[in-house]
Parts: sequence; C-alpha cells; structure tokens
Amino acid sequence: MNFFSWVFLVVFFHLLSQTFSLNGMPLDISTKFLNYAKKEELFNWMVGVRRKIHENPELGYEEFETSKLIREELNKIGIKYKYPFSVTGVVGFIGTGKPPFVAIRADMDALAMQEMVEWEHKSRVPGKMHACGHDAHVTMLLGAAKILQAHREEIKGTVVLVFQPAEEGGGGAKKMIDAGALENVNAIFGLHVDPRLPIGHVASRPGPLLAGSGFFEAVISGKGGHAAIPQHSIDPILAASNVIVSLQHLVSREADPLDSQVVTVAKFQGGGAFNVIPDSVTIGGTFRSFSKQSFMQLRQRIEEVITGQASVQRCKASIDFLENEKPFFPPTINNKQLHEYFKNVAGAMLGIDKVEDMTPLMGSEDFAFYQEVIPGYFFFIGMKNETSKQLQSPHSPLFEINEDVLPYGAALHASLAVNYLLEFQPEVPLPEEKHHDEL
Ligand SMILES: *[C@@H]1O[C@H](CO)[C@@H](O)[C@H](O)[C@H]1NC(C)=O
Ligand SMILES: [Zn+2]
Repeated sequence: MNFFSWVFLVVFFHLLSQTFSLNGMPLDISTKFLNYAKKEELFNWMVGVRRKIHENPELGYEEFETSKLIREELNKIGIKYKYPFSVTGVVGFIGTGKPPFVAIRADMDALAMQEMVEWEHKSRVPGKMHACGHDAHVTMLLGAAKILQAHREEIKGTVVLVFQPAEEGGGGAKKMIDAGALENVNAIFGLHVDPRLPIGHVASRPGPLLAGSGFFEAVISGKGGHAAIPQHSIDPILAASNVIVSLQHLVSREADPLDSQVVTVAKFQGGGAFNVIPDSVTIGGTFRSFSKQSFMQLRQRIEEVITGQASVQRCKASIDFLENEKPFFPPTINNKQLHEYFKNVAGAMLGIDKVEDMTPLMGSEDFAFYQEVIPGYFFFIGMKNETSKQLQSPHSPLFEINEDVLPYGAALHASLAVNYLLEFQPEVPLPEEKHHDEL
C-alpha cells in the first residue's frame, strides 16, 4: 500500500470514529476522563480514601466521620457544598452555578455485620462493615469531584454531588429530597459496584431495573397454655403457620405470572419451651414488585390474609408495615432517554460491547426515590477480574472491593455529568435571575 492510501485510510477512519461518537463530544471527554482517573496520582489517592472509609464504617444517619471526611476533601479540592442534609448528607456544587443542573449520587452507610476478611484495612469497628461497597461509591464520587475540578472550564452548567446517608433500609434518599437536595436538578445518575460483572463493563436497562420493596411484621395472638391440653389454649403457632402458607398463595395464585413479585416470611418467633403453647407469635418479612400498583395490591392482601387466616384459628393479628423505620422503596425505574444517553457515554468510554443489557433484579435501592421526582438512571459497574480470586456478593462478611474499579466509577460519574450538560442545554437561554448567588 502506498503512502497516499495510508493517509487516506487514516483520515477515513478518523472521520468514521467521529461520526460514531455523539456530536464528537463523549468520545473525547470520556476517554480523557478515564485516562485522568487511571493516573497513578488520582488512583492512589482514591485507594487511600476508600481504605480510610472502609476502616471506619458508620451505620445509616450516623455517618458523621464519613461526612466530615467528604467535607474536608471537598474543601481541599476547592468545591463548595451545603451541609447538613438529612443529618449527615453533603451536597457539593461545581460549575457555573446556572442551569442545567445534573446530579451524581453516592450512598455513605455501612451494614451492621462483622467483617470476616483479614487484611490491613479491615473494619476497626466491631459489628460494622462496608459490605455493600458504599465506601467505594463515596470514593468514586470524590474522584469525580477531582476530575471535574481539573476540567471545570468544560462544565456548561452545574454538577451537583449528592452524598446521601442511610441507603440500607433507611430511605436516606427520600429525606435528602425532602430537605431540598435536588432543588433545580434536571437529572440524576447513580451506580453500584457489581462483583459478578467484569471490570471495565457496565450493565443496566431502560424501565424497571430493581424491585420496589416493603417490610411487614405481624403479631398473632392466641391464648397460651399447657401443650398437653390444647383444648384450653388458642395456639398461635399453628395459626401463624397457616398464615405463612396462605401468604405464599398471593404470588402463586393472585399475581400475574409475568409480573414478577416476591413475598418472603423471613422471621418466625414464638414459644420457648417444649411443653408450653405460647400466647403469641411474631412473624415478619418482605414483599417486592416492579410496579407501584402491584406493590399496593400486595400490601393490602398481606394485611387481609394475615388477619383473615389468623381469625380462622381464633387468633387476633396486628400488622405493622414499619413505614417509619424502613420506608417502602419504590421500584427503580430507569428513564428511557437517559438509557440511550448512558449507552452513548459509557460506550464511548469503554466500548459499546462492554455496555451490557441486564434483566431486572428483585433487589431494591433507595435511588428509586429520586427517580420518582426527576429523571434518573441507575447502573452497575463491574469489579470481576478473571485472573484474581472470585469476589463475594454484597452483604457477605467476606465482601471485598476490587479497587481497580475506582477510576472507572469516577470517570463515568464525571463523564455522564459533563456530557449531560453539553447535550441537554436548554433551547431557549434561561433568564439571568435563575442564577444562584450562594454557589
Ligand atoms: C486483573 O488483575 C491482574 C493482576 O492483578 C492485573 O494485572 C490486570 O491488569 C487486571 N485486569 C484488569 C482488566 O484490570
Ligand atoms: Zn448497596
């Protein structure tokens, strides 16, 4: 091949690559941000931050030291923030202070469980552990803050950094919204590390991604007595057993088989002796579905079945849906337009073959609360390295983070935010008075 053919080919492929990127922008920014995040300086800094958070896990609404660390780092980076939201939440702002506004979010809380991994940076708090990767999520968002600050001239609007408390059952996202953390925000992105997905891959889907979830607890009361004289007692153990069996018919007989739902009784407590019928039994569990309608239907039927079935055996039942301690999580439903946008940005950074479509999961996420009020998109980011040891699932006492994931998360956050602001500029310029003085 002669020289001119080479030149032609090079120019041709250059043009081709440009037409495949969205306006020519995401490809440039995405690869630039990933390279920046992988640089030793930023990578080592993220590893240090993550290990520090990992050593000091804090439960929901108690993330005081984590929140302090975040604020100290934001101060060092030179990013303004507001604090507190919902006890420990922090909201940072970077960019022009003007519309559009795009949010990127991390959860901060740990779990009440003992870490069983023996390593230098093991949890120093007995009975508490970052076993769901929220230490990595916070670190990635701080990493994104560094990337964004270093490229702040490219931010055509405002990026809102949302550090929220209490994702694990506490509904911290709902409290962040109530406290005004999403004021003016046009869209929000969130991620979760995934130990089964290869590193450098991401996965998600448009529409329902994770289930809505609720909890219930019921006390079934009868009349205690001698186990050998059952006619003088009203046995709550047998009544509770029938309640549990009847609850299993809700999904198998009443739900549309194509509308996935779960009812699980995970708690059954009653009695303490071999020869005594107890006064009462406590049962409890969770229920899940992918639509609010199915969810409300399940909730209503769980209540009816527990009281109705208990009364068949002359017992009384009281039901608590624990809405104050464990608020219902709505289903996580991804905005369809943001799905297309995500595929473009993540595809430009990682290669489109690394952007996987996934089937919905019955797990739940309080990110869903944000999606109820603004368009939102949630995705999973891979940590699996074929050549290293297999990683355990979240909520395992042996859960570990492959820290190689940190640059990917940070760069994706930053890239999704910056490209969003470029792509979703308002068509008519907004009047000046929308400007936020406090930023
Ligand atoms: C997987 O781990 C090995 C050993 O630590 C490392 O050399 C390699 O770069 C990792 N692969 C990826 C894709 O990160
Ligand atoms: Zn989690």
